[in-house]
Amino acid sequence: MGIETSCDETAIGIVESSLNAQLSLKIRANVLATQIPLHAPYFGVVPELASRAHLEKINGVLRRALEQSGLNLDPSRLAGRLDAISYTRGPGLKGALLVGEQAARALALALGKPALGIHHLEAHLAAVLFEHPDVRPPFVGLVVSGGHTDLICVSRWGSYRVLGRTLDDACGEAFDKFAKMLKLGYPGGPIVDRMAQSGDPGAVAFPRPYLENSWSFSFSGLKTSALYRIRDHGVPKSKGALNDLAASYQEAICDTLLFKTKKALRSLRLDTVVAAGGVAANTRLRGMFREAAVREGWKVYFPSPSLCTDNGAMVAALGALRIASRARLDDGFVDPSLPFSRW
Ligand code: KG4
Ligand code: ZN
Repeated sequence: MGIETSCDETAIGIVESSLNAQLSLKIRANVLATQIPLHAPYFGVVPELASRAHLEKINGVLRRALEQSGLNLDPSRLAGRLDAISYTRGPGLKGALLVGEQAARALALALGKPALGIHHLEAHLAAVLFEHPDVRPPFVGLVVSGGHTDLICVSRWGSYRVLGRTLDDACGEAFDKFAKMLKLGYPGGPIVDRMAQSGDPGAVAFPRPYLENSWSFSFSGLKTSALYRIRDHGVPKSKGALNDLAASYQEAICDTLLFKTKKALRSLRLDTVVAAGGVAANTRLRGMFREAAVREGWKVYFPSPSLCTDNGAMVAALGALRIASRARLDDGFVDPSLPFSRW
């Protein structure tokens, strides 16, 4: 079982794993109670509201996940079917993480099973294994979400070297804040994605924050240039012009992510990329990476869009991976800025 409460989704997944030549994972349940309507009026996540909503939702989500999986709700029988309870240990919002951790530890204690603290970004990457069980490190990992833009060298599952991350806004935040400027709604990423599909990505010349001599990302300058554009030209009146603006802004983000990823592939002499996290659900990002991969002879793998955004199944997947690797299972309490660690 995997419990995810790091941000604004209360999510529990149950995954069945079998280990033959390779680990194969099947989702038995993946239940989510979203807090989007709660945070939408603020165009961003309000931590205190998030923690309280997790507390209100978590028991119901657990009941639904057990029902969906077909597992018996009777604790004495349940103990025979679950190997471990994984939960997101960090990074994330502290009060939100604590709710998932407490639920996981209570359940683990009641069932006599281990509780496994999971790294949220590792879990995003592990989500790729549901549909691509054959993906094997070494690969370049790109985790792009509302809180992170991390480019990682994954030499094996459990061994990570962060090449670069954002110096300011995460790329998901760059989408969300752009949508906020235009009062399009929250979260902005999926809205901009939809609008951009009918827009011209070359209509507005936004800068590409490539930071050529560094592995770091920076999206705050791009965001400011959108702000100035809207200040100087006003909010586009026609739907077409608004779609063009969205497509141009999105293109600048996707170009930047692809530029840095290609640089990592070249410099590490690798030929495989795994892209995950909420922004990896983006239609243009997926298309652009796939086209580049075919053109340049490398491979790119994404989880399906619904498994890119936060979910409980990915947390369970990483738990299963750690059990299969016979890694140490319990490793401390929640940490809002949990670094990658070796296992
Ligand atoms: O991974 P995630 O669900 O939560 C975090 O760990 O942050 O990512 C949420 C982020 C939000 O910023 C959201 O706008 C963005 O992912 N996102 C997208 C798309 N779907 C979600 N961004 C661009 N295009 C999308 N289709
Ligand atoms: Zn996430």
